[in-house]
Amino acid sequence: MEDFIRELECLRKAIDEAMEGALLGYPCDVPLIREAMVYSAEGGKRLRGAIVLSTYKDLGGDGDAMHFALAIEMIQAYSLVHDDLPCMDDAEMRRGRPACHKKFGEAMGVLAGDALLTLAFETAASSDLPPYRVVEGIKALAYGAGAAGMVGGQVLDLQPEAIRRGACPGGPSANGRAGAAGPSDSDSPGDLADPENLADRVRLMYRLKTGRLFETAAKLGAILAGAPAATVERAAEAGMHFGFAFQILDDIEDAAQGGVEEDKDTLLKRISLEKAREEAIMGFQRCKQLAGSGRLLARLADHYLVTRLGV
Ligand code: IPE
Ligand code: IPE
Ligand code: MG
Ligand code: MG
Repeated sequence: MEDFIRELECLRKAIDEAMEGALLGYPCDVPLIREAMVYSAEGGKRLRGAIVLSTYKDLGGDGDAMHFALAIEMIQAYSLVHDDLPCMDDAEMRRGRPACHKKFGEAMGVLAGDALLTLAFETAASSDLPPYRVVEGIKALAYGAGAAGMVGGQVLDLQPEAIRRGACPGGPSANGRAGAAGPSDSDSPGDLADPENLADRVRLMYRLKTGRLFETAAKLGAILAGAPAATVERAAEAGMHFGFAFQILDDIEDAAQGGVEEDKDTLLKRISLEKAREEAIMGFQRCKQLAGSGRLLARLADHYLVTRLGV
């Protein structure tokens, strides 16, 4: 376990350093936006970036995948800046200090998020890896971040009423890929009086808003390493299971601290804390099986099982 913590810490430091270099070295004549971007990009655990780098190495990549680790962490930072805005979760604190909009104002929160999102793609496109893999990577990044991924999940999170009414077109497997993980892949709205159908809507929201970026991280590592399609698919699935479990765990911990608002839809509310906890355990265990023992993602899943879920 100690080796693993050290390895994770090493990757975090490498990503932090590269992030600082990328943001401070970015040619931009407007100091305020740079300042807000640097502020927002600081302080993350860098799990998604670490998964890109370690999956890339594990699958035989012998170049430098850092541009993509930075890109996914820029997208992660942007998603959190926007998530905290008054029109979304209206959160005051992020990463242990005032949220971007609290420090720089709401308009700057919107703009810093926009700037991080666009810089993510500029950064990914600057990778020295083979161009056809870079293009595939950029496509994967856009897919994971956008309407079919994180943004779509955020929409569902903002509209629990719409989810309740079944206004959630296509459901988990609408594009044949969203349902890659999680216990139910039903794409029919079903009987909305049935609590299990309501729970499925929350599962979909988790897969999209959080599962997708972890899926993308593992997928990127595999794509950039030139892994065969089946390996890319397996890595993606492992990442999706991890992210799904990670979001349940986040909600369990928020609930334990009394931090869940009344109108927030969570799996805990839908199926009980104990059952949600079981799904988180299953998700991390499935991730371990798919990622393969020794792999960073498997060890990360194990770490959360042991230290956070007491398994
Ligand atoms: C926070 O993700 C948002 C959720 C998906 C629950 P992280 O806990 O990975 O956030 P950072 O990037 O380390 O701050
Ligand atoms: C955030 O989900 C997931 C994103 C896509 C940004 P939450 O709103 O549940 O995460 P926290 O609790 O604010 O970190
Ligand atoms: Mg949110
Ligand atoms: Mg939030």
